[in-house]
Amino acid sequence: MPDTAESDWSKQLADIRRQGLWRELLPLQPDPVADHPKFIDSEGRALLSFASNDYLGLSRDPALQRAAIAEMEKSGLGAAAAPLLGGERPVHQALAADLAAWLGAEAVLLFGSGYLANLGVISALVGRHDRVYADRLNHASLVDGVRLSGARLQRYRHGDMAHLQQLLARGGSGRIWIISDGVFSMDGDLAPLPEMVALARQYQASIILDEAHALGVLGDQGRGTLAHYRLGNADVAVIMGTLGKAFGVYGAFVAGSQDLIDLLRNRARSFIYHTAFPAALAAAARVSLQKLQAGEARRTRLHAHRLCLRTQLPDAPWLPSETPIQGLVLGDTARAVKVSGQLREAGLYCPAVRPPTVPQGSARLRVTLSAAHRHEDLQALLTALREIL
Ligand SMILES: Cc1ncc(COP(=O)(O)O)c(C=O)c1O
Repeated sequence: MPDTAESDWSKQLADIRRQGLWRELLPLQPDPVADHPKFIDSEGRALLSFASNDYLGLSRDPALQRAAIAEMEKSGLGAAAAPLLGGERPVHQALAADLAAWLGAEAVLLFGSGYLANLGVISALVGRHDRVYADRLNHASLVDGVRLSGARLQRYRHGDMAHLQQLLARGGSGRIWIISDGVFSMDGDLAPLPEMVALARQYQASIILDEAHALGVLGDQGRGTLAHYRLGNADVAVIMGTLGKAFGVYGAFVAGSQDLIDLLRNRARSFIYHTAFPAALAAAARVSLQKLQAGEARRTRLHAHRLCLRTQLPDAPWLPSETPIQGLVLGDTARAVKVSGQLREAGLYCPAVRPPTVPQGSARLRVTLSAAHRHEDLQALLTALREIL
């Protein structure tokens, strides 16, 4: 009997377990009466979460929920069609216009998720003979987008603009792209955007910037890494944002010139061939955007939480980060899993992040903060970490 693909699966699963890389889903129900990130697990235990990307605490905001329900009553639940085949609702257009005005972009195109947006943008814009330079710690969706484009990917050391310059200087043919997270999802640090923009000018490269973790968190009105550095939209070719993190909703968008958006609407396969995301979510995202723009108090609180964590536990192996993503590098996968388990016993949810999500030897706790955390939530985490570490 020839070996089938299926006959290999149990061996692969055994390998995953042996390497300590087994992944499991853990359903967590938000506590209906709590106004901070408190969840109940399937055994009825309360867990305080330091794991979500709900940076501004908007995911449970009643105003967003009311907007979603009102829209659902008008539009129904699922869009039940691709955006180009009848799935687009007026509220999608209104959201795109709001997002464009907020970022000062000519136009915006909505996508089903950030993952789909990155796949669609890169595979639509980048030709197989182009040269692509990408930070070694870029999000998987950016890496996969380049794979789909068929172009050769040259990865520079994380945040290392001297290395990027060396690679650019080697030359080659085709158009040149630099692709980067604005805020890195696992380390929480910022891309050195001013230097990157200068290199892009020097080498006539176009920048694709993934602002998934920056929008809502950094810069005036939460406009992200570009605003943080006081750069302009014209300094990059493409801005990608997700509605699933600081917005507290779901979905994603790309912002840029009218030509860019027209091209993506006609070429991006993950846009053309996907079902539009529910109109109710677009309505919620419009309300979320208003709160996010006016969210200075929430951003200040987030900043204070970060300082509190780092100043009260100064000797812990924190990665450098100015954002609510705070990495505690524990090195060994088994150690990271053990510490995460000990935190869970103390009623704190902070999962271990292991290879291949992060490089070998840098397994860690990825602590994420939210403006919805209370001072005593941080104290609970600090007390537990002091005991465990
Ligand atoms: C940097 C980055 N880009 C893109 C994505 C994908 O976004 P979404 O969750 O909306 O698919 C994520 C989130 O997982 C991310 O961290």
